[in-house]
Amino acid sequence: MKFDDRESRRVEAIYLTPDVVVQRARVLDALALARNERVLDLGCGPGLLALEMAHRVGMQGEVQGIDASPSMIALATRRCYGKSWVQIARGDVSWLPYPDAHFDAAVCTQVYEYVSDIECALRELHRVLRPGGRAVIVDTDWESCVWRSSDAERMRRVIEIWDRHCAHPHLPRTLRRRLEDAGFEVAGVEAIVLLNDRYDPNTYSHGVIATLCNWAKKHMDEAQAQAWAQDLRVLGERDEYFFSLNRYLFKAVKRREV
Ligand SMILES: C[S@@+](CC[C@H](N)C(=O)[O-])C[C@H]1O[C@@H](n2cnc3c(N)ncnc32)[C@H](O)[C@@H]1O
Repeated sequence: MKFDDRESRRVEAIYLTPDVVVQRARVLDALALARNERVLDLGCGPGLLALEMAHRVGMQGEVQGIDASPSMIALATRRCYGKSWVQIARGDVSWLPYPDAHFDAAVCTQVYEYVSDIECALRELHRVLRPGGRAVIVDTDWESCVWRSSDAERMRRVIEIWDRHCAHPHLPRTLRRRLEDAGFEVAGVEAIVLLNDRYDPNTYSHGVIATLCNWAKKHMDEAQAQAWAQDLRVLGERDEYFFSLNRYLFKAVKRREV
């Protein structure tokens, strides 16, 4: 999936909903940043987390954000403008332009699922963290999705097709083992539940309907994709809407020896 200008602004709007604000608070809690620390935001997107981390580490600290999308880089650069201790760069999380053992902590939310060579990306994460450095990683498994629909078979198809938008749609299931193989200790795994029981524009699920519909239109019958989105609207109008999805947060620590 391409994070062009339109999609990047859509992600930014979705990530400003209370659902994702709560998710960011959980990520920040898990990361437990101290003043003056150096932290890396892998796939920083619109820079929402980078800015919050900048406030936590303070101007004697360092925040580096890296992202592959020029549109996201533009949003993050604008958001963090004036914070001299924040740097946003274009690049790939599989090939990090930072020295060995440079960071105290790193965060990667909703990014590794898009990265085809995940082993390489985890090796790079391991390399740039200092021994004992922390990483917090969040990814989604859409098979955990419970989304009310008047047509269960069509809903199943849309989710099945949506699974193809990224390289690792079920990454959380294998991530603990992959992290251990890359030289990390996994200190904990938690579920973050995104739950909406109202069809409300200020929610995560309302925001992603357009994204899923646009994707589905390209990969299944267009009228079916539109009917899927319309059905959710109608359920919402009848106050019969329900959506729930799990994201998984992994806390990892770089072992002192591999
Ligand atoms: C769903 S957004 C998440 C953004 C941000 N981490 C957040 O949680 O707000 C996914 C981001 O990952 C970036 N991305 C995907 N693959 C990448 C890669 N191989 N290297 C760097 N960034 C990547 C995309 O450009 C996009 O900004």
